Amino acid sequence: MQHPKPISLFLLFFFVFITTTHFSAQTATAKSTIEPCSNSDSCSALLGYTLYTDLKVSEVASLFQIDPIALLTANSIDISYPDVENRILPSQLFLKVPISCSCVDGIRKSVSTHYKTRPSDTLAGIADSIYAGLVSADQIKEANSIQDPSVLDVGETLVVPLPCTCFNGTDNALPAIYLSYVVKDVDTLTGIAARYTTTISDLMNVNAMGSTAIKAGDILAVPLPACASRFPRYASDSGLMVPNGSYAIVASHCVQCSCGPANLNLYCMPASLAVSCSSMQCRGSNLMLGNVTQQQSSAGCNVTSCSYGGYVNDTIITTLSTSLQPRCPGQQQFPALIAPPTTVTRDATFASAPAPSPQGYAGGNIGPNTVPTTGSMPGGFPAANGPVGSASGSDACSLGIPHLGRSLFTASFALFMVVKLML
Ligand SMILES: *[C@@H]1O[C@H](CO)[C@@H](O)[C@H](O)[C@H]1NC(C)=O
Ligand SMILES: *[C@@H]1O[C@H](CO)[C@@H](O)[C@H](O)[C@H]1NC(C)=O
Ligand SMILES: *[C@@H]1O[C@H](CO)[C@@H](O)[C@H](O)[C@H]1NC(C)=O
Ligand SMILES: *[C@@H]1O[C@H](CO)[C@@H](O)[C@H](O)[C@H]1NC(C)=O
Ligand SMILES: *[C@@H]1O[C@H](CO)[C@@H](O)[C@H](O)[C@H]1NC(C)=O
Repeated sequence: MQHPKPISLFLLFFFVFITTTHFSAQTATAKSTIEPCSNSDSCSALLGYTLYTDLKVSEVASLFQIDPIALLTANSIDISYPDVENRILPSQLFLKVPISCSCVDGIRKSVSTHYKTRPSDTLAGIADSIYAGLVSADQIKEANSIQDPSVLDVGETLVVPLPCTCFNGTDNALPAIYLSYVVKDVDTLTGIAARYTTTISDLMNVNAMGSTAIKAGDILAVPLPACASRFPRYASDSGLMVPNGSYAIVASHCVQCSCGPANLNLYCMPASLAVSCSSMQCRGSNLMLGNVTQQQSSAGCNVTSCSYGGYVNDTIITTLSTSLQPRCPGQQQFPALIAPPTTVTRDATFASAPAPSPQGYAGGNIGPNTVPTTGSMPGGFPAANGPVGSASGSDACSLGIPHLGRSLFTASFALFMVVKLML
């Protein structure tokens, strides 16, 4: 075996993450991936959430205090269905819930979710059932300094700390958003890797796992390829990441940004529900947000585009850019949309299990300025494809670029690994 390059050895120091245990009524000692952090930057993240009962779209959104539109677009559900926010989603449906991931007391977590207790609630019920194992009763108890969990006042507002990771928004140096996934008893690591089109070794690296063994209740960080934005820091949607195969609606519901399937360039255009929005025309041109003109010349293709540059002070920033490209880009493709699910199919239960045929996008090309309102029904959510060039063996050189946890106390552990790898 080739010796790992010194650079890889150095990077290995950052590869190790601590896992902590938490206790819940259902699982003895579940593991959960923790990312140490030191700066106050937050990032976009996703929670893998399984509905404990039939709930309206708006009810799921209010459980997490997020915009129902954000919930729908993250799951590629067509928001143009009439009264879509009042659609009832079936129990056991698996959804990706977009949340903001912050840095609290040195570790990544989401603390923007609050729950108002109802009669006969118990901490275990809130943790295991309502929040589907994303949090444990002990974590809620701790976060709210509850002395006696047996007496919960009705109408009490509890902070619900939820697991999330950022890992610098990358996986193997490509933009990625991380899904906090609660392992079910039927899950295997192979199955999860296949479902999210990643590799076992990538999952093991990300979660610092020593073996492929997983248990129901464990919470894994699953990297999903995403389109990254480059909006300025002062934009209110700065840091926007949209997972491959989905959408986001930003700028006060005026702008719709999509990611994939053909490439991971964020594509933004006026949203279909845009009502009273500031101008979306690029200054000094007749192009609107999302418009692209191309002109083939002997030197190549002259591409002029009017793109979205973020939402600043209630103003939609547009940027006109011209570039000479070797080839004219094809028509913009859009991720397929699905109708609000009414039943839980096997595929939906198990999230985005890839269909036997890789053809999930029956829609194909949609005109560059067409808002997709009807979509094919792939039967599950679009599968995110795996990172390119992820590790396939135990060779340290193939491990790729790691996520940087900035904690020093992981270093000794990493040293141990380095020594092991060199033997
Ligand atoms: C974080 O990701 C950005 C690109 O999104 C990259 O330029 C930067 O080098 C990364 N930083 C670290 C510490 O990996
Ligand atoms: C520009 O975009 C607008 C809004 O999406 C669309 O209605 C219009 O047809 C586009 N024009 C061109 C020239 O592509
Ligand atoms: C490309 O198109 C833009 C706008 O139409 C024009 O100003 C520019 O001169 C063109 N560049 C080339 C190299 O043709
Ligand atoms: C936003 O508006 C405030 C007050 O109107 C102003 O001080 C600030 O410079 C503006 N920010 C940007 C980025 O334009
Ligand atoms: C994005 O998703 C599409 C459709 O599932 C897939 O074909 C494509 O390979 C994915 N791209 C990446 C970079 O994962």
